Amino acid sequence: MSGQASLSLDVASEALGLSSRLQGITKRNMKVPFLDLKAHHAPYIEEFNRAIGEVIETSAFAGGPFVEKFEQEFAEFCGSSNAIAVGNGTDALWLALLGLGIGEGDEVITVPNTFIATAEAISYCNARPVFVDVDPDTFTMNPAELEKSLTERTKAIIPVHLFGQPADMDPILEFARANGLFVVEDAAQAHGAEYKGRKAGTMGDAGCFSFYPGKNLGAFGEAGAVVTNDPELAKQIRMLRDHGQSRKYYHSLMGWNCRMDGIQAAVLSIKLRHLTEANSLRRKHAAEYSNALAGMDEVLTPVESTYARHVYHVYAIRVRERDLVAQNLQEKGIGCAVHYPVPVHLQDACRNLGYKRGAFPIAESLAEQFLSLPMFPELTGEQVEYVVRCVGEVVGAEALV
Ligand SMILES: Cc1ncc(COP(=O)(O)O)c(C=O)c1O
Repeated sequence: MSGQASLSLDVASEALGLSSRLQGITKRNMKVPFLDLKAHHAPYIEEFNRAIGEVIETSAFAGGPFVEKFEQEFAEFCGSSNAIAVGNGTDALWLALLGLGIGEGDEVITVPNTFIATAEAISYCNARPVFVDVDPDTFTMNPAELEKSLTERTKAIIPVHLFGQPADMDPILEFARANGLFVVEDAAQAHGAEYKGRKAGTMGDAGCFSFYPGKNLGAFGEAGAVVTNDPELAKQIRMLRDHGQSRKYYHSLMGWNCRMDGIQAAVLSIKLRHLTEANSLRRKHAAEYSNALAGMDEVLTPVESTYARHVYHVYAIRVRERDLVAQNLQEKGIGCAVHYPVPVHLQDACRNLGYKRGAFPIAESLAEQFLSLPMFPELTGEQVEYVVRCVGEVVGAEALV
């Protein structure tokens, strides 16, 4: 379905008469959680316990050998020469920008339909987030929008690989090269995703990942990483994450404490071995959803770009009367979510940036329509079928499966 079609969706609920149709829907008992981490972890519990036991045994709690091992494994997985493990994905973005020398008075271009952390990291460098609108089909940065936001203060671009689909990197990299800008990829939702065969996170100067528990590669708490092929940048970020230390108690610069825990690294090493298979299962469920929902005029399904291998961290459909649809699905036992109800430029926290509603019509329209359906590797065919049937009932289509 085209982005144009999505934009022509009228969010005025009355015109659809959905509210009255929703009232007659029968309740069923099946429960489909939005995410089932317990099911995801169940097959490896013994392995996790053993690995955590080893961390305890060796007291390697903050940094240390488990972290170094995971850094090597993750760098190899991404095809990058360096991975620097940090405390979370927000730290990863912040330290990557600091390491590139972004600071006071600089501008960094990103997108408004992302998690607030992308903009927070820019602000925490005392730089200014500048937004550009997104492509209506991929929901990622529209490279054609970059030119009009360029100023002499622009220093970097942060494309966000939203929901697990990489942004259109070639034109973004070309624009950056032509204008002497750094590119930091926000790959927090895109572990293992690919752009023309290249792994997300490895195309810019740095790629930033979150290992928040619900991510495709998730820790047992907070964790993140930066990948980069630039050895000097890697060295700088390693110092910044560890109080600016070049060696113990010798501080070359003012840093912060953004280290990863040994326990998180030990867990991530185990989960990394299963990531490719888990991403394939997500792709299978996404294809099942998209095939089954394809006949419904009221639903727009996500589009995988020809350049991408999407890893469906989030499977977001677009519907009118999104909040009502979500509420009805929840009443039928289906966990759903909205990523994200308010685009970043309209958040109270960004009021000082001076953006008004209407500044980014595509991002704003998507925020009104997005509805994320249950998506995790262990989702069963029966659960997918149930979700599709309920979506069909809720939006008023005929039975779809
Ligand atoms: C797009 C994006 N960027 C950055 C982050 C920040 O990661 P963390 O929560 O690990 O700090 C997230 C986490 O949800 C994210 O989705």
